[in-house]
Amino acid sequence: MKEIFRAIPVTEHVWWVGAIDWDIRDFHGYSTHRGSTYNAYLVMADRVTLIDTVKKPFRDEMMARIASVTDPSGIDTIVSNHSEMDHSGCLVETVRAIGPERLYASAKGAEAIEEHFHAGLPVEAVSDGGSIDLGNMSLTCVETRMLHWPDSMVSWLDADRVLFSQDGFGMHLASCERFDDQIPDLVLEQEAAKYFANILLPFAHITGKVLDRIESLGLDIDVIAPDHGPVWRSKIDRILALYRRWAGRERKRKAVILYDTMWGSTQTMARAVADGLSSNGACVRIMSARGTHRSDIATEILDAGALVVGSPTLNNTIFPALADILTYLKGLKPKGLVGGAFGSYGWSGEAVKLLEGWLDEMKVEKAAEGVRVKYVPDTEALLGCRALGAAVAKRIADLPPMVEGVV
Ligand code: FEO
Repeated sequence: MKEIFRAIPVTEHVWWVGAIDWDIRDFHGYSTHRGSTYNAYLVMADRVTLIDTVKKPFRDEMMARIASVTDPSGIDTIVSNHSEMDHSGCLVETVRAIGPERLYASAKGAEAIEEHFHAGLPVEAVSDGGSIDLGNMSLTCVETRMLHWPDSMVSWLDADRVLFSQDGFGMHLASCERFDDQIPDLVLEQEAAKYFANILLPFAHITGKVLDRIESLGLDIDVIAPDHGPVWRSKIDRILALYRRWAGRERKRKAVILYDTMWGSTQTMARAVADGLSSNGACVRIMSARGTHRSDIATEILDAGALVVGSPTLNNTIFPALADILTYLKGLKPKGLVGGAFGSYGWSGEAVKLLEGWLDEMKVEKAAEGVRVKYVPDTEALLGCRALGAAVAKRIADLPPMVEGVV
């Protein structure tokens, strides 16, 4: 196996020994159109150290990459920056196969590893800001609680100026290329935005504090080595700036219209709302709930200033695809949105009120009353939809205009 799966050098002492998952298309409900990677890193210090492991089915690939550099049994230390299964799924087998002298995690990580595997692994808790002596160099660990799990921490290798950032600055992107400068900027930034929108957005305020803390430490970062996707070595300033923007919920003059339709009436209404928005200076994304994955809708909302939702009434309620997406979006807690609701109905007509209830729960400020249309909209009804769009556009008129791309 080691002849097939080779480690990739990252810096003088650090090797990438992770695994590439070309086939994954659903990562616990997040659509991974481009696959993913599970990154693990080998530090060839006096005390050879493995940072994070990989998802369980990929253990042999990781072990082969390690063996292409050194005998795995020579690994002295394993550091688990994050206990989620995509990084710790093979931890127990790896510890048993290698028999390291030391296994470290944060205090919450030590608890989480036991609560996941019930294996009695001898995990030592490293304190926030604490150092791990690797002989000729050291790792400093900084807790990043709730970014995005309670156990999360990052570690800093002083010798090579590498920040091992676990999920932070990561993305789901399978590729043969391992570094940011080998991948087109548009792909990098789209996938980084999607990752932030779907994984980190609920913790955006914590992200800002962690960025402050990293800055206050005065680290002279040469490399950011995340647990998914490419290693950042050339565009560190750019990804840090994007994280600042996303953490600060910087919004643009952009509205997402999310809708479903039964016989086309609500779809026609969506287009009239869009015309009211765009005629008043807003950039619009019309997104069909049944035609678009929830995680792609979340990505569009990352920099949007408005969310307008439309549904026909079906059996006294909203369409199920919308309920799925609204449940998901509500959990992501996007802040600072304005919006409104619209929809067609045949007799009972509850959908628009129910949608407004969803918007209230998401703290989306309504720019105007919802628009309801019986069966099929006529010109007057469509003018009402257009007016809804115009009202929303006016509420986001002060936001910066959209520029190219999603970020
Ligand atoms: Fe990539 Fe939170 O695990």
